[in-house]
Amino acid sequence: MSSHGEGGAHKLWGGRFAGGPAPELEAVNRSIGTDIRLWPFDIVLSKAWAAALSSAGVLSAAEAKAVQQGLDRVGARIEQGEQPIASDEDVHTFVDRLLHEEAAEPAGRLHTGRSRNDQVATGSRLWAMDACGRVDAMVRDLQRALLTQADAHVETLMPAYTHLQRAQPVSVAHWLLSHFWPLERDRARIAGARSAAAVLPLGSGAIAGSAFAVPRDQLRDALGFERISENSIDAVGDRDFVAELLFALTMLGTHLSRLAEDLILFGSSEFGFVRFSDAFSTGSSMMPQKRNPDALELARGSAARLLGDLVGLLGTIKGLPSGYNKDLQEDKRNLFDAVDAVTLLLPAIAGSVATLTINADRTRAAVSSAMMATDLADYLVRKRVTFRDAHAAVGRLVREAEDKGIEMIDLPLESFAAASSAFDGDVMRELAPETSVSHREIPGGTGLNAVRAQLEAAHTCLLDDQVIGGG
Ligand code: ARG
Repeated sequence: MSSHGEGGAHKLWGGRFAGGPAPELEAVNRSIGTDIRLWPFDIVLSKAWAAALSSAGVLSAAEAKAVQQGLDRVGARIEQGEQPIASDEDVHTFVDRLLHEEAAEPAGRLHTGRSRNDQVATGSRLWAMDACGRVDAMVRDLQRALLTQADAHVETLMPAYTHLQRAQPVSVAHWLLSHFWPLERDRARIAGARSAAAVLPLGSGAIAGSAFAVPRDQLRDALGFERISENSIDAVGDRDFVAELLFALTMLGTHLSRLAEDLILFGSSEFGFVRFSDAFSTGSSMMPQKRNPDALELARGSAARLLGDLVGLLGTIKGLPSGYNKDLQEDKRNLFDAVDAVTLLLPAIAGSVATLTINADRTRAAVSSAMMATDLADYLVRKRVTFRDAHAAVGRLVREAEDKGIEMIDLPLESFAAASSAFDGDVMRELAPETSVSHREIPGGTGLNAVRAQLEAAHTCLLDDQVIGGG
């Protein structure tokens, strides 16, 4: 199984070749620079495999123990900085070479009945499952930052925008929570991707299944998988779990980008709704006055990179014949890149949100009385005017205020009476944004009590027993 090629290279294959591979082939084939990150999982799965081989009678109990202890020493060496050498093709070769140094003869028995095809699929799945737990925890931190701001701003009013035009007044907490719920959906998608990854391929061998009766249930339980794969051909070529995680991360990146865009816009001098803390602002090398929200802009930019990772992976797998193909080695670049991107972004966005201040005077001042036009029409509807007539009457008032260059609330009562005989002296109350908001206590609406109920539901989502992957 293990042979020593020219120059003392440790190889997992090579016996059938008269000469060694060309350096050009080795260069393109080598994946250690990327897959080295799988090493903790490669060791864990190999320890479980040693136990399974012992259950199958391939290794004696003493040999299995020697292999497992050897693998522990390999792990300790790598942790202490042991580096791969140029001839280590991939992480599996690297770990196997060190294991031969640590455990000699029984090390040569470990690769019985398995292939790097089921090995790399198993290691990648374990890595992805672990990443899901880490990313989920970071999403929760961002959600917590949004909630803390929302708790403090239930009664602060701001304009909500459609088509980026002032539409209707809302609670600032309502706007903040509109960025909380997409993240909650992202968490569900990440949990789904984790579950897709939690299928054990080990035991599939290269393609046809291991010829040794290794107990796959035992492997599943030892490694924390939920299920075992049903078909060995499918198991070694299945990267659906990578695609599902990449989609979940792309969607998350898209949500971060949209949150970032709102904040960048609201942080501009023209809006002035939010001010970023010094700790999360950058300066300009030329313009001394600048406070730039770089982390947020990078969130917007990184969403494109995440999408690229997803599309790249889908392109890699779409034309592959069944079973394992070396193209699949590319999956880890996309997977690692996407997880790295959100791992950098999430704490920076959470910090930006946690430390920004909301300027309640500015948000309230931006709520102009024309934004209560719908409320005025609703007022007429309550007085039995049809909505169509009410819309037309209020439209006239809007135009009149615009022509005169004043706010609707500054129009004389006579103008209201002329627009519709249903307007009474109590109409001015309807032009207050507080009244507008108070009419919207419908579940999911911006009425302050509805927002308080929403906040409570959001807090419930973050209770500690809702952690994915057991923490
Ligand atoms: N480095 C390979 C990968 O990441 C491991 C599997 C190699 N299998 C093989 N038959 N050459 O996919």
